[in-house]
Amino acid sequence: MQNTHEIAPKLHWVGGNERRLQRFENLFPLRFGVAYNSYLIVDEKTCLLDTVDSSISQLYIDNVEAVLNGRNLDYLVVNHMEPDHCGNIETIIRRYPDVKFIGNAKTFQFFEQFYDFDAKKNYMIVKDLDEIDLGSRKLRFYTAPMVHWPEVMMTLDFTNHILFSSDAFGTFGAHNGTYFADEMDYRRDHLDEARRYYSNIVGKFGVPVQGIMKKLSNEVINMICPLHGPMYRNEELALILDKYDKWSHYVPETKSALIIYATMYNNTESVADTLATRMGQYGVRDMRVYDVSETDPSYLVSEAWKYSHIVIATPTYNTNVFYKINNLLHEFASLNLQNRKFSLVVNSTWGGQTLEQLQTMIEKMKNVEIIGEPLLIKSTLKEDNMQALDDLAKVISESILNS
Ligand code: FEO
Repeated sequence: MQNTHEIAPKLHWVGGNERRLQRFENLFPLRFGVAYNSYLIVDEKTCLLDTVDSSISQLYIDNVEAVLNGRNLDYLVVNHMEPDHCGNIETIIRRYPDVKFIGNAKTFQFFEQFYDFDAKKNYMIVKDLDEIDLGSRKLRFYTAPMVHWPEVMMTLDFTNHILFSSDAFGTFGAHNGTYFADEMDYRRDHLDEARRYYSNIVGKFGVPVQGIMKKLSNEVINMICPLHGPMYRNEELALILDKYDKWSHYVPETKSALIIYATMYNNTESVADTLATRMGQYGVRDMRVYDVSETDPSYLVSEAWKYSHIVIATPTYNTNVFYKINNLLHEFASLNLQNRKFSLVVNSTWGGQTLEQLQTMIEKMKNVEIIGEPLLIKSTLKEDNMQALDDLAKVISESILNS
């Protein structure tokens, strides 16, 4: 069996889809599967860029053999040595024993950590800006450490202006018969998943992402080929570059409020909804209200990357912050979320240090501000809380509408 697609002259997508996997990295829920992209250039020399996850090995090998059509494989470039892309290095080298396995020193260190297969005779160690000549096109390697992992490289076909970008610009979701973002309703169906992928997987590494974008800024790039999801050219290329610029600078895309609550008996939910309604009455639009227990944190991380203002509403649990809120805030901090305005709602029946704990967690993040007086509720929202609720709604709304 085989399923390949020539995405540009002499450049073939030879990857595959995985729709049975429930969670990417056994962590992030996949509603529409995931694609593992691998690319094969068939020029005077042949060159394979990355492999795929071991779950789709048979299809992958068939794809590579079909496109090579009896030719030998000269180069295997490994831009990223994470197992979702490395599951077939050994198989490729066994099949094409003279292939030059291109990576940097860290690539080979990680290869030897993950696999016992001895491929040292195949190693071709490259450094930043080294080049190879495939005949009608040349490739240049750019080290991009920490654009997910330290060994990451990007490879530029600077003859055809095609960037093989590793995990950067990747998206959750399997392919649906077309491969370019401009061949689908990308903004409607894929942009949110691209943000969820970025924020959860690469979001922590905004500075390295800015570094590689700056390094490539003098290059003409007409196409980006990531390791997951659709490829980019034309308007969608400009769109995703603009998004990456914002996302890596932690600049919110939407001036509005993300309201995240925890609730045990619907009382804190009721406060969150009432606050949202008041903000709507003050003119705020496009808010989102989420129950932290019902929504996977990866979606909330993604929304936090999008929204300028974040309201956290939590009951007190065992004298502390409700642990799913606690975990989420820990994740925000761990992913370096910054440049946001937070507001707080704390519900408590019999005591605790919840407000202080929330403030401590939030103040650890860079360039964040807590706006408005924290709204303190005793068990349920009462009439005598309404003035304080209204005051908080007004402060957040004015901050959104006047910023
Ligand atoms: Fe798709 Fe960092 O691996």
